[in-house]
Amino acid sequence: MSAERFHLGWFLGNSFGVHGWNQPWGGSEDWTQPDLHIELARSLERACFDYLLLEDSLFVPDNFGGSMDFYLERALRVPKNDPLPLVPLLTQATKRLGIVPTISTSFYPPYLLARLIATLDLMSQGRVGCNFVTSTSERAAQNFGLETHIEHDQRYEMADEFVDLVCRLWESWDPDAIVMDRQAGVFVDPEKVRAIDFKGRFFASRGPLNTARPPQGRPVLVQAGGSPQGRQFAARHMDVVIAALGTVSEMKAFRQDLRQRVAAAGRDPDACKLMFVIAPTIGETNAEALERSQRRQAQREAYPELALAQMGSLTDIDFSTFDLDAPIGELTTNGQQGTLKRFLAQGRTLREIAHNYRYGYEDLVGTPEHVAGAMAEVMQEVGGDGFMFTGMLTRRYVAEVTDGLVPALQRLGAVRSRYEHEHFRDNLFAY
Ligand SMILES: Cc1cc2nc3c(=O)[nH]c(=O)nc-3n(C[C@H](O)[C@H](O)[C@H](O)COP(=O)(O)O)c2cc1C
Repeated sequence: MSAERFHLGWFLGNSFGVHGWNQPWGGSEDWTQPDLHIELARSLERACFDYLLLEDSLFVPDNFGGSMDFYLERALRVPKNDPLPLVPLLTQATKRLGIVPTISTSFYPPYLLARLIATLDLMSQGRVGCNFVTSTSERAAQNFGLETHIEHDQRYEMADEFVDLVCRLWESWDPDAIVMDRQAGVFVDPEKVRAIDFKGRFFASRGPLNTARPPQGRPVLVQAGGSPQGRQFAARHMDVVIAALGTVSEMKAFRQDLRQRVAAAGRDPDACKLMFVIAPTIGETNAEALERSQRRQAQREAYPELALAQMGSLTDIDFSTFDLDAPIGELTTNGQQGTLKRFLAQGRTLREIAHNYRYGYEDLVGTPEHVAGAMAEVMQEVGGDGFMFTGMLTRRYVAEVTDGLVPALQRLGAVRSRYEHEHFRDNLFAY
């Protein structure tokens, strides 16, 4: 990346689910309708974001107190609609913004996924990506007929092969295969479409795909696993990695490590962008923002169960069974290993950890100008490549970011003020 400009994305946790219910500024949406998401996408495009990433998961959590109650009662990660039907609605409502749905490499059939993403890329004229996750929950595995989940490292071996196969299917049609030659009576040139005869350890597919090559060639490939296996997977295939880290030194170390891995995999380190999850608190004055951030911290401290239940559903560990004030020690998981490691590093006891719990970098508190300056400094220190906003989705928060913070970033020359290209991939790699 250039030293001056960086990229912006929005990581929408809980995706096509319930947002801000029973919270001030939560609005009064019908959560089954796509209106809030469409407005979000339009706002992000007005602010020239690179993309909106739609999180997903495939289970009802029951990782706190051994039951689903905690999650169902609070609409925590459930109910959640399938985000894929949102994608064409969002691309239809925008012209340049990238849209990145999440899919599971453990449970989606690769041929169907290749076709689905190719279709969306054709419909949107080159504006979709795909967030590849291995799915980490035992309950998700059971929803697909397994008794226990596939082992963590093997899931990544499968993911590797899955992505290889999907890319081969996208390449099974040449870019100029569709000739639509009326005089010769030929729609598709048969010379330009081939079987792939892929036979791997986990997947096989004859091919070719039964739709045309996606306009981007490869829709943008994204992943977020932070374990060594996750980073290797990223190094081999990905265009973007997203990471939720709490300190600038962790960001810097992650970036150095990832760039080394990408180079060792025979790729240009600049071919894989790394974007860091942030949740800023913005106010009209620095003092007002600080007060809001302190209020949020007080809520965290009064109610540690929320963080523990959230983390439980990501790591498949029931933290309600632990003493809140005893040293927590080492824990292992077949779930999200990178996330667990970071979680445990935030304190000695579970209470301490819950108090300090951050999903990403939150030390961005102040006026739009102040936060914009701080973001630019972080990027200077880390070297690139951008940020993913996250946090409770409300129209108020979206306006603070897209109408307050981003214009301040634009005045600094830190982010784009207009899109230069039609395709998502070209905008992402423009700098
Ligand atoms: C910022 C971030 C976003 C993620 N989004 C999703 C998601 O939408 N769905 C999902 O199943 N996993 C998601 N994950 C999980 C990872 O993609 C990955 O599968 C998981 O962290 C296991 O990887 P690890 O053991 O390598 O850390 C996310 C992780 C992070 C850090």
